[in-house]
Amino acid sequence: PRPILLTRHGESQDNVKGRIGGDPVLSEAGEKYALKLAEFVKRRLKNETTASIWTSTLRRTGITARHIDWFSKVEWKALDEINAGVCDGMTYEEIKESMPEEYAARKADKLRYRYPRGESYLDVIQRVEPVIVELERQRSPVVVIAHQAILRSLYAYFMDKPLKEVPHIQVPLHTIIEIKMGMTGMQEKRYKLME
Ligand code: G3H
Repeated sequence: PRPILLTRHGESQDNVKGRIGGDPVLSEAGEKYALKLAEFVKRRLKNETTASIWTSTLRRTGITARHIDWFSKVEWKALDEINAGVCDGMTYEEIKESMPEEYAARKADKLRYRYPRGESYLDVIQRVEPVIVELERQRSPVVVIAHQAILRSLYAYFMDKPLKEVPHIQVPLHTIIEIKMGMTGMQEKRYKLME
């Protein structure tokens, strides 16, 4: 069976500062992950003649994919991170202080909460649908390099997780989640390449 490899971009300079959104480049650790990811993909997919690397249109995913230069790449706008609207570029602490009602509303219902002028998880789940359709049509392996909220949505679809769990699924940095259709349903393996 054909594996799908899911990973977040390497740690970004905004991840280090706790800022959400934006279009940052990678931290030093993130750059190291990009190298490790390329080595991993080379080993894991060594017997594959074709495979494709899907990224978002944000710099941090393209940079993370940079060293994988022997498979074709596709950039999807639909894989861009959840749009935090007016909160883009802020830390959760700053949101809590300057927009306490927004912070509380999100905490109360993270799935349905829509950032002012931005998106909710439900919006994201709908937005990634065309990506899922294409993923299911692929005959060769796909490496998806995207973002936390996006990968929660893709993972939940393939692993059949209830909607209400989607915003809380653990998708750590610097870890590859491999999913495969097995005889008894979907199989999952996680590879933690670094801290
Ligand atoms: O920048 C956005 C985060 O990756 C999404 O995390 O939905 O848990 O706040 P969150």
